[in-house]
Amino acid sequence: MKPIKILLLGSGGREHALAWKISQSPLCEKLYIAPGNAGTKECGENLNVQVNDFVAIQSVCLREHINLVVVGPEEPLVNGIYDYFQNDAALKHVALIGPSQEAAQLEGSKAYAKAFMQRHGIPTAAYREFDQTNYAEGVTYLQNHPLPIVLKADGLAAGKGVIICQNHVEAMAEFELMIQQSKFGSAGHKVVVEEFLTGIELSVFALTDGESYVLLPEAKDYKRIGEGDKGLNTGGMGAVSPVPFADSVFMEKVRTRIIEPTINGIHAEKLAYKGFVFFGLINVNNEPLVIEYNCRMGDPETEVVIPRLKSDLVELFLAVSQHRLAGKTLEFEQRAASTVVAVSGGYPGSYEKGFEIDGLDILNEDDTIVFHAGTTEEDGKILTNGGRVLAVTSFGDSVHKAAQRSIKIMEFIDFQGIYYRKDIGYEFQ
Ligand code: AMP
Ligand code: GLY
Repeated sequence: MKPIKILLLGSGGREHALAWKISQSPLCEKLYIAPGNAGTKECGENLNVQVNDFVAIQSVCLREHINLVVVGPEEPLVNGIYDYFQNDAALKHVALIGPSQEAAQLEGSKAYAKAFMQRHGIPTAAYREFDQTNYAEGVTYLQNHPLPIVLKADGLAAGKGVIICQNHVEAMAEFELMIQQSKFGSAGHKVVVEEFLTGIELSVFALTDGESYVLLPEAKDYKRIGEGDKGLNTGGMGAVSPVPFADSVFMEKVRTRIIEPTINGIHAEKLAYKGFVFFGLINVNNEPLVIEYNCRMGDPETEVVIPRLKSDLVELFLAVSQHRLAGKTLEFEQRAASTVVAVSGGYPGSYEKGFEIDGLDILNEDDTIVFHAGTTEEDGKILTNGGRVLAVTSFGDSVHKAAQRSIKIMEFIDFQGIYYRKDIGYEFQ
């Protein structure tokens, strides 16, 4: 196969991990990242183009003769970048990794995802959906609902649209805020009210060509800011892979009850889907249920999943885009991987940017990779440029040992206000 030119969209730790992997492929002639971060610069050429600026992305593709576009975050997918390419005569021949706008509703609309799961008999929490038209019925439904109650804004709400209410007064107030007061803008005009599930969460990733799929290593992320999983929710403070409780019996249930019915459902409904499917699962007494679908890779899960993939990712992307994924098998690194995320002081609340990051030069050891997230380069200095600043991924004989290695490496890195959790993988010692 001839090497190709690739454009990767996004700027987080996920994108640095993807760029790191893509740039190692003999099939990658040249990699561009838009807009990227200070880390992705080491893997290719950063372009000052934003992920939702389809017109600018189109001109990059034409100017640089791009053959393949890999979409990192969900927003451009939910906004219809796949369809934009399909409907443009000059872009039609450019392969794009990601679902169509319709299929991206699996992430972009909770109600769409729930109805899809119902149609295909995929286990998930019981639910009802409400909007302006059945608001009064919703209030009565909430009054009689067992606690806690899970309220979900239907649309994308920057990761803040899920509220778990411990009492009925709070549930009714949030319900009113979402539907009547536009708390999440139009994203919350429809609300999914869901049964609360108790269990441990994990993330499972498939890459599909719309008919066949390959499974990537599973992972678990640590969403809370504080050690022991306390405090506010964040974009993710760390991740481990594999997930020790996801043994072959459990994963077989995941495959037969969730992954296969989902991929078969996508195929049966003729959804255009050539990309990643992220299954946010919960293990309730050894039975897997779906909490959510995402139409992209997870962050920080990608920072442990991709380093464990030995197979050529570009070759896989080409197989996806050419609809020849059937029969492909993947090779994995058997060692465990863990990542620890360093964040700016104050995150997930308000924080400052622009602090110089020290200690990055000593870090290229064999068993450790430093992925940048919110970083930027100015006059040769690497500065903080976001809430999640970088993710240190290490390999080890167990996820706990791998995390310990990342935590040790983190001691060499410094910027004003740096914070990271020292307990990633704590429950798997
Ligand atoms: P989501 O935005 O769908 O990822 O939801 C955010 C988080 O809310 C999930 O990762 C879970 O921790 C939690 N969550 C969502 N739905 C439920 C549910 N039905 N039961 C318990 N926790 C839930
Ligand atoms: N780590 C969860 C997510 O990427 O949505």
